[in-house]
Amino acid sequence: MLKTRTIRLVLLVSGFFALGDCNALAQPSIQYSADRKVWLLQAGEQSYAFGVNERGELQSLFWGGRLQGIADVAEAKSLPERASFDLSTTTTPQEYPGWGAGLYTEPALKVTFSNGNRDLVLHYVSHKIEGDELQVLVRDISEPIFVELHYRVYPDQGIIARWSVIENRSDQPVVLESAAAASWSLPPGNGYEAHWLTGHWAEEWQQQAAPVEPGSIVMESRRGSTSHQANPWFEIDRQQETTEASGPAWFGELGWSGSWRITVETSSFQQTRITGGYNPFDFGYKLDAGAHLQTPIFYAGYTGRGRGEVSRLLHRFQQEEILPGGDKARLRPVLYNSWEATEFNVDEAGQTALAEKAAALGAERFVIDDGWFGQRKTDNAGLGDWYVNPQKFPHGLKPVIDRVHALGMDFGIWVEPEMVNPDSDLYRRHPDWAMNFPGRPRTEGRNQLLLNLARKDVAEYVFSFLDKLVTENDISFLKWDYNRNWADPGWDAVPVDEQKKIYVQYVANLYDILARLRAKHPGLEIESCSGGGGRVDLGILRYTDEVWPSDNTDALDRLVLQDGFTRAYSPGIMMAWVTDVPNFLDRRTVPLKFRFLVAMNGSLGIGGNLNHWTAQEMQEATEMVTYYKSIRPVVQRGELYRLLSPEEGSASASEYVARDGSKAVVFAFLHSQRFGAPFPVLRLQGLQPNAHYRIHTMDDKLQQPQSELSGDALMHQGLVFQLTGDYDSSSVTLERLP
Ligand code: GLA
Repeated sequence: MLKTRTIRLVLLVSGFFALGDCNALAQPSIQYSADRKVWLLQAGEQSYAFGVNERGELQSLFWGGRLQGIADVAEAKSLPERASFDLSTTTTPQEYPGWGAGLYTEPALKVTFSNGNRDLVLHYVSHKIEGDELQVLVRDISEPIFVELHYRVYPDQGIIARWSVIENRSDQPVVLESAAAASWSLPPGNGYEAHWLTGHWAEEWQQQAAPVEPGSIVMESRRGSTSHQANPWFEIDRQQETTEASGPAWFGELGWSGSWRITVETSSFQQTRITGGYNPFDFGYKLDAGAHLQTPIFYAGYTGRGRGEVSRLLHRFQQEEILPGGDKARLRPVLYNSWEATEFNVDEAGQTALAEKAAALGAERFVIDDGWFGQRKTDNAGLGDWYVNPQKFPHGLKPVIDRVHALGMDFGIWVEPEMVNPDSDLYRRHPDWAMNFPGRPRTEGRNQLLLNLARKDVAEYVFSFLDKLVTENDISFLKWDYNRNWADPGWDAVPVDEQKKIYVQYVANLYDILARLRAKHPGLEIESCSGGGGRVDLGILRYTDEVWPSDNTDALDRLVLQDGFTRAYSPGIMMAWVTDVPNFLDRRTVPLKFRFLVAMNGSLGIGGNLNHWTAQEMQEATEMVTYYKSIRPVVQRGELYRLLSPEEGSASASEYVARDGSKAVVFAFLHSQRFGAPFPVLRLQGLQPNAHYRIHTMDDKLQQPQSELSGDALMHQGLVFQLTGDYDSSSVTLERLP
């Protein structure tokens, strides 16, 4: 990718810059043709083009594979009406449509003005380009409602980010009934297939697919947070053409941890657009005179290289551009957590004993989960009272933390800062802090209520207790949990017409607390957990280092969950524990080796009751942890190739290749044996054809006699494993020879 920028002709237009044609030698990531009023954005193999049509609307022109340059982009011309029932404003793929002038498709922005008018027609005003960022200003044809459309191009990662800032420059308030970050239009045509992720507690990350037909596919959360039920990620490809390894695919991901919506909408004229941002359900955001509202960010991309490449692009983008510390962030340590083993029964002696055993296995971080604070004996009480329970830890946390450090591990602790049990000192002191509709029942879930983090005083309280906890104790890691959804989103501390701002302000304050904590405690790492994977999105990932993808730790179920998770998110941030059998949820018993190898496909943790592990199990686990540490950089930062999907049959396999191509690791799993059915040959991917690789096996399951093979041989002939029986597994590593 050429990074050199051309010298641009700059003309000043109402405070913004308009740029002359710059179709010169080098290709800037953003080009503009002043003659045709079109823009071309280039990111990786993706090109994205739009322009100003003869009415002054912004019109989407192209989204797909890479074009040569701005000369390839024709000027924008609105499409005709189709009979009198589909007006031109509806048939024309608008870049950011306001609801007005006969728009029947999903609007990006819907406004009610103070005089009751609800017609919003946005026309181009000006734009400016600064490096990889483009800002286009549009405004309503008569009211001074302005929208800045932001585009940020990531040329090296192949991603374009879009968001909008809506500004009320009138002297009257307006109400925003919906506000999307962006609307993306696919090339006209049919034959598309949509993919998305759904689930519920302990079964997140289920992959859905359906043909894109006239009508809408709506993915959303109305729950105040990201949710287990749907995740703000989509992929659309061509049903007949796209496979895991080849073919076109368009994809996107929202960066927002509150209620959100993505609508894939197809007209009867074979036009598909994807609109996403704040969920318009119960939205109603009052924008005062002079005020503005920024939407979440909608990230998107295109590849011609299949579904696997979609996830690899997203993983790399998250690692380099979203996660704290980017590429320089430390690799995820192997952690121990006793939640499944001890639940709320944590105390000084028990945790210290477990810490000794965890350290012996090679764990690098020891985490005390729920139960250490307030009067927390069950989930009935204690949330909100963040003092150390004196019966369980009579000397405070210090003795355990000191011992954990002496054992060579760092220390982490569980918190659920946004929640309160009615049976707590905090609730007794501040019942008004709970989110509720005054005079209505307070709907409990897991015996708890939400604190209204949109309130300044509540947000300040949450920041202060966390700051105090981390300042007074040597804590390197917080497992930040969030164990229910909103039910009664009332906010009676502000005037009635401000109350719905809770949907925005709550999340803004959450991000602010996370950012302040990290700034004040630079070494602190945070895991986003919400009863498993209920809050995983590109918004929270700017402030957290890893996530807990599911409370389901059964190894076989996890294979499927992990396959879905990694469609959208990097394996490097996916915590995966090895826990005891029979599994607490489905009572399945799976061998320790299989459990370890499954968990090694993410960030390895151990969550079994080590007091019950035999000497032989401890020995095997120690070897597994050592093996994981040797492959960890490749799994956490490498490129994932799905060799065999766990959804498809009784076997599965994955491969990770280091970005510099020097190493690879392969995992093979036989779920259940069918008599006479050999384990499928694993044809590897992503290797250098001419390079030679040394093969290291962890056991005697590989049938290849050679210890060195060419990339060609590994990719064409493949690796032959002999796995037999139920829950057999193996792993090999490849090292490129100089
Ligand atoms: C949630 C988390 C679990 C555990 C419990 C503690 O369910 O997902 O890992 O921390 O809360 O109550």
